[in-house]
Amino acid sequence: MTAQGQLSHRVARPPENGKEGIAPSQSKAAVRELGLSDLEFAHFRKFIYGIAGIHLSPVKKALVAGRLAKRVKFHGLSSFGEYFRLISGRPEERQIAVDLLTTNETHFFREPRHFELLRKRLLPDHPRGQTFRAWSAACSSGEEVYTLAMVLAEALGESPWEVLGSDISSRVLAQAESGLYPMSRAEELSADYLKRYCLKGVGSMEGHFVVSSRLRARAHFAQINLTEPLPSTGVFDAIFLRNVMIYFQADTKRQVVERLLTRLRPGGWLFVGHSESLNGIVDGLQGVAPSVYRKP
Ligand SMILES: C[S@@+](CC[C@H](N)C(=O)[O-])C[C@H]1O[C@@H](n2cnc3c(N)ncnc32)[C@H](O)[C@@H]1O
Repeated sequence: MTAQGQLSHRVARPPENGKEGIAPSQSKAAVRELGLSDLEFAHFRKFIYGIAGIHLSPVKKALVAGRLAKRVKFHGLSSFGEYFRLISGRPEERQIAVDLLTTNETHFFREPRHFELLRKRLLPDHPRGQTFRAWSAACSSGEEVYTLAMVLAEALGESPWEVLGSDISSRVLAQAESGLYPMSRAEELSADYLKRYCLKGVGSMEGHFVVSSRLRARAHFAQINLTEPLPSTGVFDAIFLRNVMIYFQADTKRQVVERLLTRLRPGGWLFVGHSESLNGIVDGLQGVAPSVYRKP
């Protein structure tokens, strides 16, 4: 890995992860003290379903209490019900609640077969000189976007490409845009990719690495809620819609996929998570491999 001095000041530190900003023992105590009632839980389930299409099963009650307890405490409130009333009238706090209620687990080169397929089948056929456009449609903190960027940069050389990363959570998008990750994440990247596409942080950035500005310049980010009408994005050669449909019910899945297909060029590729399938959800797509589809 190349160490190129202090990282640029334009690189923001990733925001504190709101889900980990409280010691687990404190969090447990707060959860016990506040006690999320069934009615309060029902309110939050309806809230996140209405905003994001996320279906929280009854077993998620403890998770909801654990994630929101610190905000209840932060505002000096004495119940989850009071917090629910507070978010109803405050858009910024509503966004924080959405950030906390989404699950953002991700990593570099997650489900690597998809990137192999991209490298071996999609990119060799792509006309050189024509911009290859990929969309990571629930990109979380950006690892999927930069994985795509590394594969595209390596395979396409000077031929143009760009990646759009989008998510409903503003907290993870801020980290994605910074391209700054804790060093522990470097284990997910090969030594070769680290050397070519990442810089090691020193000084105040010690313990982190940043994705090179060459790749970041071709990655764009936007806050997009997949359950709402899409903003204008243009059309893509490949869309990665991975590990988000697990949170949706069948109707929501169908609507989201149909919406995204309007942004996929004919012959374009749609990747879903390995544990996700479009069987019985959308007709007319050509299955190429498990969890990989093409638009006719
Ligand atoms: C588990 S992460 C998946 C990240 C990445 N695609 C991967 O496979 O590693 C799921 C992401 O979906 C986002 N999400 C959930 N509901 C969404 C919605 N309605 N619109 C856009 N993003 C959503 C969450 O904020 C979260 O970051």
